[in-house]
Amino acid sequence: MAILVTGGSGFIGSHTVVELQEAGYEVVVIDNLSNSTEKSLKRVEEITGKSVKFYKLDIRDREGLNELFEKEDIDSCIHFAGLKAVGESVAKPWEYYENNIGGTLTLVDVMRQHGVKNMIFSSSSTVYGDPDSVPVTEESPVKKCTNPYGSTKSMQETIFADIQHADPEWNIVLLRYFNPIGAHPSGKIGEDPNGIPNNLMPYITQVAVGKQPFLRVFGNDYPTPDGTGVRDYIHVVDLAKGHVKALERIKANCGLAVYNLGTGRGYSVLEIVKNFEEASGVKIPYEIQARRPGDIAENYSDASKAEREMGWKAEKGILEMCADSWNWQKNNPDGYGK
Ligand code: NAD
Ligand code: UFG
Repeated sequence: MAILVTGGSGFIGSHTVVELQEAGYEVVVIDNLSNSTEKSLKRVEEITGKSVKFYKLDIRDREGLNELFEKEDIDSCIHFAGLKAVGESVAKPWEYYENNIGGTLTLVDVMRQHGVKNMIFSSSSTVYGDPDSVPVTEESPVKKCTNPYGSTKSMQETIFADIQHADPEWNIVLLRYFNPIGAHPSGKIGEDPNGIPNNLMPYITQVAVGKQPFLRVFGNDYPTPDGTGVRDYIHVVDLAKGHVKALERIKANCGLAVYNLGTGRGYSVLEIVKNFEEASGVKIPYEIQARRPGDIAENYSDASKAEREMGWKAEKGILEMCADSWNWQKNNPDGYGK
């Protein structure tokens, strides 16, 4: 029996394929390569020494999915495939709803037609919106998102909860990721954004490697200790391991389960800069600029439920996250070289 990984050549997907293979799972990857390259999977093979079965396939392609499920013996699905750029989603809401929601509905329908009713879904801390208090637990209110990308995540959560409620044969784990950074310690796989990065860590590593002149710090007047935004950064390898643990919950017939995947500790933008400089030995020039529209002051997790119920806990600290992000960028200044 194999685990189907949608979006498996992407950033989090490729790291998860490594952890799955290392835990002894058979893996089948599908991806339409809209935001990734198959080269990441070649690198995964170098890391694990095992081959990765890959199909270039879109989750909206019902016929293609049907053929795949007839051919492969799939037991569970880990569903990463989706568009994820917040700003782009504001400009292209239809594309985001059609890809993320439409694609998920097609995938789920084909799965159930083939009697496969085990799902792990990539949700996001974005579903908490601007939280009333931190740390957020899984019981904290899910709020209206400020952008279509975030709305697709909360809508998909609702869809999954309703599907599981209507058909209790489904086991569905919704994983709410906080801010994944870092890279595999081998430096062979990592985050490879298109164009100018939107997110903090890839921007910092591009400054470090000389591709961007300086970091723009978006606001230093937030009600946080140093005025800059605070987030819960989590090493992507820890995050990937969370999916392996979630498969065990599926095997135990968990029904619907929701977990925060974070470290439980928040760091400000300036703390990240300081830690990155310490880990890399490279100075990061920065300029304080205006707040970025839609940003919140502070968000970090209470991840104790994942520890209690899945036996999962983030193990890697901020210096290791920075060192591994840097190791990836330094060894691959142009990412996978698309
Ligand atoms: P990514 O873009 O690297 O990976 C997503 C993959 O999905 C890409 O390889 C892309 O080509 C593929 N894809 C997109 N649409 C597809 C479709 N219709 N059919 C098949 N493949 C398709 O992003 P990532 O950072 O690895 O994120 C993985 C998942 O985790 C996403 O669902 C994302 O929304 C979610 N997530 C990411 C973060 C983050 O900060 N990186 C945080 C919270 C949640
Ligand atoms: N920041 C800067 N300069 C930059 C980029 C970011 O100062 O060039 C700041 C932001 O203002 C924020 C912090 O760094 O305070 C983190 O920003 P990111 O863009 O890296 O991450 P966000 O928390 O804003 O959001 C990201 C994704 C969301 C997802 C969330 C949690 O974009 O979709 O992580 O996973 F929901």
